[in-house]
Amino acid sequence: MKQVMENYNEEDLKVWNTLFTRQIKNLEDKACKEYLFYLNELAPVLHADAIPNLNELSDLLFEKAGWKIEIVPGLIPVKDFFELLAERKFCSSTWLRKMSQLDYLEEPDMFHDIFGHIPLLLDPTFGDFAQKLGEIGLEHHDNETVVVQLQRLYWFSIEFGLIKINNERRIYGAGILSSFQETNGIFDTNTEIFPFDLEEIIHSDFNNMTIQTKYYELESFEELFVSLNHFSLSNPITI
Ligand SMILES: [Fe+2]
Repeated sequence: MKQVMENYNEEDLKVWNTLFTRQIKNLEDKACKEYLFYLNELAPVLHADAIPNLNELSDLLFEKAGWKIEIVPGLIPVKDFFELLAERKFCSSTWLRKMSQLDYLEEPDMFHDIFGHIPLLLDPTFGDFAQKLGEIGLEHHDNETVVVQLQRLYWFSIEFGLIKINNERRIYGAGILSSFQETNGIFDTNTEIFPFDLEEIIHSDFNNMTIQTKYYELESFEELFVSLNHFSLSNPITI
């Protein structure tokens, strides 16, 4: 699949600019410092004033971290998804939500995939974690139990993870980073936030149709990477 730049219209550009401008300001004191640092590293291609050319962004990402962007039509089979991650390829769509739906999405659009997910792949520990999760998933793709556990881990980390550094709560999950509403919701007093606990996460179901009510908070990205030891073959998985 290819991104056709000519297909974007004025409304698309307005949507991209509005989302980017609003969220970058919102995240200043809420996103983890690694995310903000790497977002800035990608600024020559990824900024508010133009819809990013995904070929150019992919080249920059590859040069900096060995990752590429793979354009997909939408949700893809889980085995393919794991396989791409294992090859350090991150999936993105090319469509954008409409102005009338700025804060409501039925499935991930390009703002979520690119603004939310891509910058942190430049972090060596986080990037290696994502790749390793893909490798494990590919190896065990016919084991439904493992696949579900990896999906839950992905959900509560790469999509909706929080990290606490120097006693400050920060966001690193793309589902939150790309949502104005959810970014602010994290700091509501009725949000349930627990310390990162792999055992608990792999046994926790999630609902992808509503705003999350439960989040897990890391102390470091190393903690996330090390959690994958649970899935090594010498340590059989049990429910
Ligand atoms: Fe996502």
